[in-house]
Amino acid sequence: MPQPPRPALPFSQACENNRAPILEVLQTAFAGLRHVLEIGSGTGQHSVYFAPRLPHLIWQTSDLTENHAGIAAWHASRPAPNLRLPLRLDLQADGWPQTREGAFDAAFSSNTAHIVAWSLVQRMFALLGAHLPAGGKFALYGPFNYGGNYTSDSNRAFDLWLRERDARSGLRDFETVQSLARNHGLALEADHAMPANNRLLVFVRQGV
Ligand SMILES: C[S@@+](CC[C@H](N)C(=O)[O-])C[C@H]1O[C@@H](n2cnc3c(N)ncnc32)[C@H](O)[C@@H]1O
Repeated sequence: MPQPPRPALPFSQACENNRAPILEVLQTAFAGLRHVLEIGSGTGQHSVYFAPRLPHLIWQTSDLTENHAGIAAWHASRPAPNLRLPLRLDLQADGWPQTREGAFDAAFSSNTAHIVAWSLVQRMFALLGAHLPAGGKFALYGPFNYGGNYTSDSNRAFDLWLRERDARSGLRDFETVQSLARNHGLALEADHAMPANNRLLVFVRQGV
Protein backbone atom coordinates (compact mmCIF):
# COMPACT_ATOMS: atom_id res chain seq x y z
CA MET A 1 0.00 0.00 0.00
CA PRO A 2 1.63 3.31 -1.01
CA GLN A 3 2.09 5.70 1.89
CA PRO A 4 0.80 9.27 1.53
CA PRO A 5 3.72 11.68 0.99
CA ARG A 6 5.02 13.22 4.19
CA PRO A 7 4.86 17.01 4.30
CA ALA A 8 8.24 18.66 3.75
CA LEU A 9 10.02 19.62 6.95
CA PRO A 10 11.02 23.28 7.09
CA PHE A 11 14.69 23.51 8.01
CA SER A 12 16.86 25.98 9.89
CA GLN A 13 20.61 25.34 10.00
CA ALA A 14 20.90 27.83 12.88
CA CYS A 15 18.63 25.62 15.02
CA GLU A 16 20.84 22.62 14.33
CA ASN A 17 23.90 24.64 15.35
CA ASN A 18 22.59 26.27 18.52
CA ARG A 19 20.32 23.60 19.99
CA ALA A 20 22.98 21.72 22.02
CA PRO A 21 24.48 24.78 23.79
CA ILE A 22 20.97 26.10 24.51
CA LEU A 23 19.90 22.73 25.91
CA GLU A 24 22.89 22.65 28.25
CA VAL A 25 21.70 25.89 29.86
CA LEU A 26 18.01 24.94 29.92
CA GLN A 27 18.76 21.67 31.71
CA THR A 28 19.83 23.72 34.72
CA ALA A 29 17.76 26.88 34.28
CA PHE A 30 14.46 25.03 33.82
CA ALA A 31 15.12 22.31 36.44
CA GLY A 32 12.20 22.26 38.86
CA LEU A 33 9.79 23.89 36.40
CA ARG A 34 7.02 21.99 34.63
CA HIS A 35 5.32 23.80 31.78
CA VAL A 36 7.12 25.89 29.16
CA LEU A 37 5.62 28.11 26.49
CA GLU A 38 7.86 28.51 23.46
CA ILE A 39 7.15 31.83 21.72
CA GLY A 40 7.86 31.91 17.98
CA SER A 41 8.66 28.21 17.54
CA GLY A 42 9.58 28.77 13.88
CA THR A 43 10.29 25.49 12.11
CA GLY A 44 9.64 23.45 15.28
CA GLN A 45 13.15 21.98 15.27
CA HIS A 46 14.01 23.33 18.71
CA SER A 47 10.89 21.82 20.24
CA VAL A 48 11.53 18.29 18.93
CA TYR A 49 15.11 18.44 20.18
CA PHE A 50 14.41 19.93 23.61
CA ALA A 51 11.23 18.07 24.62
CA PRO A 52 12.67 14.53 24.84
CA ARG A 53 15.79 15.87 26.57
CA LEU A 54 13.79 17.84 29.17
CA PRO A 55 11.22 15.15 30.00
CA HIS A 56 10.12 16.85 33.25
CA LEU A 57 8.63 19.69 31.17
CA ILE A 58 5.56 19.92 28.99
CA TRP A 59 6.89 21.75 25.91
CA GLN A 60 4.12 23.89 24.41
CA THR A 61 4.95 25.39 21.02
CA SER A 62 3.36 28.55 19.60
CA ASP A 63 3.72 30.80 16.60
CA LEU A 64 1.82 32.63 13.89
CA THR A 65 -0.65 30.29 12.17
CA GLU A 66 1.40 30.21 8.96
CA ASN A 67 4.11 28.19 10.75
CA HIS A 68 1.84 25.62 12.37
CA ALA A 69 1.90 23.04 9.56
CA GLY A 70 5.69 22.92 9.55
CA ILE A 71 5.89 22.60 13.34
CA ALA A 72 3.28 19.84 13.27
CA ALA A 73 5.24 18.02 10.54
CA TRP A 74 8.34 18.03 12.77
CA HIS A 75 6.26 16.77 15.69
CA ALA A 76 4.87 13.95 13.54
CA SER A 77 8.37 12.92 12.50
CA ARG A 78 9.87 13.14 16.04
CA PRO A 79 7.02 12.51 18.47
CA ALA A 80 7.54 12.91 22.20
CA PRO A 81 4.93 12.51 24.95
CA ASN A 82 5.63 15.95 26.43
CA LEU A 83 5.52 17.86 23.14
CA ARG A 84 2.45 19.94 22.30
CA LEU A 85 1.20 21.11 18.90
CA PRO A 86 1.40 24.86 18.32
CA LEU A 87 -1.02 27.38 19.71
CA ARG A 88 -1.57 30.60 17.82
CA LEU A 89 0.35 33.35 19.55
CA ASP A 90 0.73 36.53 17.54
CA LEU A 91 2.31 39.08 19.86
CA GLN A 92 0.52 41.80 17.89
CA ALA A 93 -2.95 40.43 18.49
CA ASP A 94 -3.21 37.65 21.04
CA GLY A 95 -3.22 37.39 24.80
CA TRP A 96 -1.36 34.87 26.93
CA PRO A 97 -2.46 31.38 25.87
CA GLN A 98 -4.35 29.09 28.21
CA THR A 99 -4.27 25.31 28.08
CA ARG A 100 -5.96 22.55 30.04
CA GLU A 101 -2.57 21.55 31.44
CA GLY A 102 -2.29 24.36 33.93
CA ALA A 103 -0.35 27.58 34.05
CA PHE A 104 3.00 28.08 32.34
CA ASP A 105 5.88 28.54 34.75
CA ALA A 106 8.55 28.93 32.06
CA ALA A 107 8.94 30.46 28.63
CA PHE A 108 11.55 30.22 25.88
CA SER A 109 12.02 32.30 22.77
CA SER A 110 14.81 32.11 20.22
CA ASN A 111 15.71 34.64 17.57
CA THR A 112 12.53 36.65 17.91
CA ALA A 113 13.52 39.88 19.70
CA HIS A 114 15.43 41.19 16.67
CA ILE A 115 12.73 40.07 14.22
CA VAL A 116 9.55 41.51 15.68
CA ALA A 117 9.01 45.24 16.20
CA TRP A 118 10.23 46.69 19.50
CA SER A 119 6.60 47.30 20.52
CA LEU A 120 6.09 43.52 20.30
CA VAL A 121 9.20 42.81 22.37
CA GLN A 122 7.63 45.15 24.94
CA ARG A 123 4.34 43.24 24.66
CA MET A 124 6.14 39.91 25.11
CA PHE A 125 7.73 41.08 28.37
CA ALA A 126 4.45 42.59 29.56
CA LEU A 127 2.72 39.22 29.03
CA LEU A 128 5.56 37.35 30.73
CA GLY A 129 5.51 39.70 33.71
CA ALA A 130 1.75 39.44 34.02
CA HIS A 131 1.50 35.65 33.74
CA LEU A 132 4.65 33.92 34.99
CA PRO A 133 4.47 33.03 38.67
CA ALA A 134 7.15 34.10 41.12
CA GLY A 135 10.19 31.92 40.43
CA GLY A 136 9.08 31.32 36.84
CA LYS A 137 11.80 31.68 34.23
CA PHE A 138 12.16 33.14 30.74
CA ALA A 139 15.07 32.19 28.48
CA LEU A 140 15.67 34.48 25.49
CA TYR A 141 18.20 33.48 22.82
CA GLY A 142 19.65 35.70 20.12
CA PRO A 143 22.22 38.36 19.24
CA PHE A 144 22.39 41.53 21.36
CA ASN A 145 24.44 44.71 21.43
CA TYR A 146 26.29 45.73 24.60
CA GLY A 147 26.99 49.33 25.59
CA GLY A 148 25.55 50.40 22.24
CA ASN A 149 28.17 48.36 20.35
CA TYR A 150 28.05 45.32 18.13
CA THR A 151 29.91 42.32 19.50
CA SER A 152 31.15 41.25 16.06
CA ASP A 153 31.34 42.35 12.44
CA SER A 154 28.93 39.59 11.50
CA ASN A 155 26.33 40.93 13.96
CA ARG A 156 26.78 44.42 12.49
CA ALA A 157 26.23 43.10 8.97
CA PHE A 158 23.23 41.07 10.15
CA ASP A 159 21.68 44.13 11.82
CA LEU A 160 22.08 46.26 8.70
CA TRP A 161 20.54 43.49 6.61
CA LEU A 162 17.60 43.16 9.03
CA ARG A 163 16.88 46.90 9.11
CA GLU A 164 17.03 47.19 5.33
CA ARG A 165 14.52 44.38 5.05
CA ASP A 166 12.22 45.70 7.80
CA ALA A 167 12.97 48.98 9.55
CA ARG A 168 11.11 47.80 12.68
CA SER A 169 13.50 44.89 13.20
CA GLY A 170 17.13 44.91 14.33
CA LEU A 171 19.47 43.87 17.12
CA ARG A 172 18.37 45.04 20.55
CA ASP A 173 20.55 46.51 23.28
CA PHE A 174 21.11 44.09 26.13
CA GLU A 175 20.79 46.92 28.67
CA THR A 176 17.45 48.08 27.23
CA VAL A 177 16.08 44.55 27.27
CA GLN A 178 17.27 44.05 30.83
CA SER A 179 15.63 47.29 31.90
CA LEU A 180 12.37 46.36 30.11
CA ALA A 181 12.41 43.00 31.86
CA ARG A 182 13.03 44.62 35.25
CA ASN A 183 10.06 46.93 34.69
CA HIS A 184 7.89 43.84 34.32
CA GLY A 185 9.25 42.11 37.42
CA LEU A 186 11.79 39.88 35.66
CA ALA A 187 15.34 39.97 37.02
CA LEU A 188 18.31 38.85 34.96
CA GLU A 189 19.56 35.59 36.43
CA ALA A 190 22.27 34.84 33.89
CA ASP A 191 23.70 35.98 30.57
CA HIS A 192 25.29 33.02 28.79
CA ALA A 193 27.67 33.36 25.86
CA MET A 194 26.59 31.18 22.96
CA PRO A 195 28.38 30.25 19.72
CA ALA A 196 28.40 32.67 16.77
CA ASN A 197 28.16 35.78 18.97
CA ASN A 198 24.74 34.97 20.35
CA ARG A 199 23.57 35.08 23.97
CA LEU A 200 21.09 33.20 26.09
CA LEU A 201 19.53 35.53 28.67
CA VAL A 202 17.73 33.88 31.58
CA PHE A 203 15.26 35.96 33.59
CA VAL A 204 13.44 34.99 36.76
CA ARG A 205 10.07 36.41 37.77
CA GLN A 206 10.38 38.13 41.12
CA GLY A 207 7.88 37.64 43.94
CA VAL A 208 4.67 39.61 43.53
C1 LIG B 1 13.90 34.07 12.98
S1 LIG B 1 12.45 33.17 13.36
C2 LIG B 1 13.00 32.21 14.75
C3 LIG B 1 12.30 30.91 14.84
C4 LIG B 1 12.84 29.93 15.86
N1 LIG B 1 12.52 30.33 17.21
C5 LIG B 1 14.32 29.73 15.69
O1 LIG B 1 15.09 30.04 16.59
O2 LIG B 1 14.70 29.27 14.61
C6 LIG B 1 11.37 34.37 14.08
C7 LIG B 1 10.06 33.82 14.58
O3 LIG B 1 9.27 34.87 15.10
C8 LIG B 1 7.93 34.62 14.73
N2 LIG B 1 7.14 35.84 14.75
C9 LIG B 1 7.17 36.86 13.86
N3 LIG B 1 6.25 37.79 14.19
C10 LIG B 1 5.62 37.34 15.30
C11 LIG B 1 4.55 37.82 16.09
N4 LIG B 1 3.93 38.97 15.78
N5 LIG B 1 4.15 37.10 17.15
C12 LIG B 1 4.76 35.93 17.46
N6 LIG B 1 5.78 35.42 16.74
C13 LIG B 1 6.19 36.10 15.67
C14 LIG B 1 8.06 34.05 13.33
O4 LIG B 1 6.88 33.42 12.89
C15 LIG B 1 9.23 33.12 13.50
O5 LIG B 1 8.85 31.86 13.96
